[in-house]
Amino acid sequence: MSQTKFTEANTEALFDDLERDARFRSFWDPEGSLHWGYFENLANARPEDFTPACKRWDEYMLAQSGITAESRVLEVACGNGKAAVWLAQQTGCEVVGIDLSSSYIDNARKLASNSPSLRVSFHKESATNLPFENDSFTHAWSQGALYHIPELKKALTEAYRVLRPGGIFLFDDLVSPVKEVSETTRQHVYDRLLFEPKFNAEAYADQLTQIGFTVLQAKDLSEHLEKSYQLVSELARAEYPDMSAAFEKTRQAIAAGELGWGFYLSQKPA
Ligand SMILES: C[S@@+](CC[C@H](N)C(=O)[O-])C[C@H]1O[C@@H](n2cnc3c(N)ncnc32)[C@H](O)[C@@H]1O
Repeated sequence: MSQTKFTEANTEALFDDLERDARFRSFWDPEGSLHWGYFENLANARPEDFTPACKRWDEYMLAQSGITAESRVLEVACGNGKAAVWLAQQTGCEVVGIDLSSSYIDNARKLASNSPSLRVSFHKESATNLPFENDSFTHAWSQGALYHIPELKKALTEAYRVLRPGGIFLFDDLVSPVKEVSETTRQHVYDRLLFEPKFNAEAYADQLTQIGFTVLQAKDLSEHLEKSYQLVSELARAEYPDMSAAFEKTRQAIAAGELGWGFYLSQKPA
């Protein structure tokens, strides 16, 4: 196994920190969603448009997914469970959410307990070692999370294994457009996110293909990522100036082409 700078234990500790979760809920999304926004009008988006734009991203992914009431969906790195509960509400599908953080799994279970008729369950597990049978899901879904995984290829291969033939894997993730990033970006952006550069957008699609997936759609969302960080920097400024400054550095890294955001819709051949 190759040596990695960050470990799953580092990620688990970061997301088990409930004070951090409370801070993020105060400006990112009060309901605990932790991904980025997809804006209707990029040029004119304002801070209050950020959380609705995160919801718009959920809607975009759902529209691409083909998820129906008959679907059995694995949410990889489900965080606080908001998207899983929403997916089950919207479609009547079954959702199984897994995440490394036991704090987030507890939060997700609490959220789901408000809607006992939904078919949702949450488990503290790693994406790199899924405790599920081969061919047991129609869909695997993930948002804003896979970049944290040091052994990413293992996680992508696990998603492939648990999907049925014909199953759909759809996710968004950070990408690294360049091989070498500046020291400032490394320190203030990649290290802050516990993110080791792995793929540029094309290499990501190639990796999916090598695993066996057919890539049906690859979408560059980097402009939306840049807008997201501009707006969260504004939203965090009054209460959390340090975080606001880190978000502004992240925005600058995206503008400089040192960080990007991509969406992949892929299928395990039938
Ligand atoms: C930025 S949050 C996004 C959470 C959620 N998808 C959302 O959009 O709100 C990243 C999540 O990835 C989870 N995570 C990181 N590495 C993981 C792994 N190896 N297996 C499962 N979850 C992991 C973290 O615990 C965290 O909940």
